[in-house]
Formats: sequence, structure tokens, C-alpha cells
Amino acid sequence: MARTFYIETFGCQMNVHDSEKIAGLLLSSGYRQVDNVEEADLVLYNTCSIREKAAQKVFSRLSQFRKERGAGKLFGVLGCVAQQEGEQIFEAAPHVSLVVGSASYSRFSELLAQLESGQRRVAGLSLDTEETFETEFTRRDNPFRAYITIIEGCDKHCAYCVVPFTRGPERSRTSQSVLQESRRLADAGYTEIQLLGQNVNSYRDPSSAAVSFAQLLAKIAEVPGIRRVRFTTSHPRDFTPEIVDAIDSHPVLCNHIHLPVQSGSTEVLRRMRREYTREQYLERISWIRRAKRPISISSDIIVGFPGETEANFEETLALLDEVGYDSIFSFQYSPRPNTASLELEDTIPEEEKGRRLRVLQERQRNIQLGRNQTFLGTIQEVLVEGRNSREEQGRTQWKGRTTQNMVLNFTVPDGLGPVPSPGEYREVQVTRVGPNSLAGEAVSGVVVRSSRKYPESQLRVL
Ligand code: 5AD
Ligand code: SF4
Repeated sequence: MARTFYIETFGCQMNVHDSEKIAGLLLSSGYRQVDNVEEADLVLYNTCSIREKAAQKVFSRLSQFRKERGAGKLFGVLGCVAQQEGEQIFEAAPHVSLVVGSASYSRFSELLAQLESGQRRVAGLSLDTEETFETEFTRRDNPFRAYITIIEGCDKHCAYCVVPFTRGPERSRTSQSVLQESRRLADAGYTEIQLLGQNVNSYRDPSSAAVSFAQLLAKIAEVPGIRRVRFTTSHPRDFTPEIVDAIDSHPVLCNHIHLPVQSGSTEVLRRMRREYTREQYLERISWIRRAKRPISISSDIIVGFPGETEANFEETLALLDEVGYDSIFSFQYSPRPNTASLELEDTIPEEEKGRRLRVLQERQRNIQLGRNQTFLGTIQEVLVEGRNSREEQGRTQWKGRTTQNMVLNFTVPDGLGPVPSPGEYREVQVTRVGPNSLAGEAVSGVVVRSSRKYPESQLRVL
């Protein structure tokens, strides 16, 4: 009987995609995937340690299966907590027998073989690598969006961030290998590709072709069959006007850039070691705003970084207005192991950090409401993701995503072509807006039909 595995993923899209690759490797070596721990012989947690709360999740999961419930099962901890805590995990959770950081995934099959041959504890924790994790066996979970990691690791040293310690040094894949994978995905019927990297635009082609990030974007946009290309996360220091030029010349490159600012105060940015000032960040925003089509901009923001004064915080609030973000992810500062900011005195009380977060989110909510109003009446092309469980005035409501990566829920008037199916593109007129999504009505039949067959399990009601 085939052995079974269960994998649960925490954290960012890089982690989500790493799990897709690990799952692919396991399937190719005869394992079967199950969707609960009970049925699994091998239980894997792919972990995140970006903030304390995220890191804690895996330990609470592991403790649920500490004793008899975990009997006969093998437990493995992968990813950022694995790298950060290393073999200490074996002490803290003795039922764990596999600990692997992401920089060792290229050795995953070898480590798995050691585990299968009965080794009690197997660890892959070296950070000293020039390799990226490439496999032909990726089992893609997202039926619409195919991820491609183009650069792994991080060479920046932001004072608050664990990533350089958990994912190791920066290493890029060759442009040939990225293009080959893009073509394979297009042949398999994917129409949307998302390029991934902790600092995706710090990409440096290691081959003699020496393709720049902006050139790579253009080349992928030209792959026949690809209708949307996204990329995340861009680092402001390495953001160039050529990226905007590429977007201008290739409509396939989506109207969205995620460009985390972290703080609106140059003084805080300096202490965060972000390597840019508020003014330099705003200069990049001005390049984006000069593009021929409106590009939506999103950001990450940390409040309560050590020493952040009320005046510093006000500068962040003012920056929200000045940039006019379409969405943000915002966080309270959380001290992390090994990071430089541990040396800075963290004197801001938790309640004050919480207050700043609420104020920031309220301000952003209003900005989004205002920005989303500008979509009223416009026609947007959406990629259909599925059917919503909620109905809209007795009509089935569908979920679509715009090129800006916004959710646009829509209904289809009678007589307008077939019922939408996931993976196809439709044109929708926006009739209502909220702070976080848009709603509207389809105005055309199918624009582009999907050639992919979606497994029944992926066609769940959203
Ligand atoms: N505390 C709070 N937020 C953090 N981030 C990274 N490290 C920390 C930390 N120590 C946020 C940053 C980053 C996002 C992925 O998580 O905003 O861009
Ligand atoms: Fe979490 Fe960062 Fe690791 Fe992604 S790279 S899983 S966000 S710690």
C-alpha cells in the first residue's frame, strides 16, 4: 500500500510554492497525499518565523499530536522555523524525526531516503548553498496561478528580519530555466504566472545571457498562451524605471506592483537598514505613476519599530495618503532571533503598537474606499476563480480577479453566454465597491476559455 503524507503550510507564497514542490517530489516517489493528519504516515509542517506568532503555530500543532495520536507517524518540520531552531526541535518535540530548512530542499529526496531507511533523526540545515530548488515534479495547488521561484534567499540585512538567517544567501535561477518552465506551464494551459523571490527584482541571471529582471519580465510576457504575469516581492532599492518600461510595453504584465515601504520616516528606515530614504521611495512611486496605464501599488508596513516616535508614525500615515496605496499588509514589530534590531531598545508598549496599527488600518481603509470608487462603471477583465457560496439577489455570484489583483465578484445576466467556469476570462462592469473588493455584472461572454482541466477537488465553492 502506498504511504501517505499530509503537508500544512504557513507563511508566504514562497513557502506555499516550496510545499508544492515537496508534495511533487513525494508523489513522484510513490506517496499519496491526504488532507488530514489522521490518515497520514508522514506529517509535514512547512513553517514561517517572520513574527513570533507565526513561529509559534507549528509548536502548537506538534503538541496536539505529541503522544498516542501521533503513534506510528513520522513528523517533519520544514522551512523557516526548522532553519531557525535547528536540531533543538528534536529536543522540544521528540516525536519529530525530520528537520529541513529551505536551503536544503535540493537534498530533500536524499534526506527522505535516510528517514525511510529507519534513521531516527534526519536534519538538513546547511545554509551554505549556491543551489536553487528546482524539480520537474511540482504538484500545483493553485489551479489558476502558477508560481515560479526565480530567486531564493536574501542578501539584504533589514534590522528586523529573520529571512537572511532562515533562507540563506541570494541565488538566482538561470533565465533559460525560468523561461523553459514558463513555456511548460503555458503548454499545460496555465495563463497566469507569478514570479517569486524574497526580493524578486534583485534577480541576477547566473548564465552568460545575463538577462536583467526587466528583460526577463518581457521575455515571459512574450511566451504564447500567457495572459498575465505577476511578480512579488519587489525591494525599493533594486527597483528600476526599466521595470515600469517593461510593463508599459507588455500588457501581459499585470497592473500591480507590491513595493513594501515598511515606514514613512527616513530616520526609522535608516535604523531598519532599508537602504533608501522616504524621498527615494517616493521617487520610485513617481516612476510607477508615470506609466501609460494606472498601476495599483501595495505595501507592507511595520508599526512600533524600536524608537519609532509619534512623529515618525505620523510620517507613515502621511505617506499612505501621498502614495495612495490600493492595499497594505501591516504588522506590529515583533523581535526576532539573531536580528540586529534586538540591540535596539524596544520601549514602545504593546498597547501603543496596537493603537498605531488600528489607526494605520483605519486610514488605509478610507484610502481604499476612495480609490475603489474610481473603478465604478469601468469594465475590467477578470480571471474567473470559482463560484461564491453567497448569492446576489437570487443570482449565482462568481469570483474573479482583476489585473490589479483585486477581487471582483460578479453575476451573469441571462443570455450572456455559458455559465462561467474557472480559469476563463470575462469582462465585468463594476457596479458597487467596498474597501476590499468590487462587485459587478458580466458584460461579455467568454473572452478566453481555459484549456486546463480542473480536478473536481479544485472546483470547490469559494
Ligand atoms: N516584525 C513585524 N513585521 C515583520 N515583517 C518582517 N519582519 C517583521 C518583524 N520582525 C513584515 C515586513 C515584511 C513582511 C513580510 O513581514 O513588513 O515585508
Ligand atoms: Fe515566513 Fe519569511 Fe520564511 Fe516566508 S521567508 S516563510 S515570510 S519567515
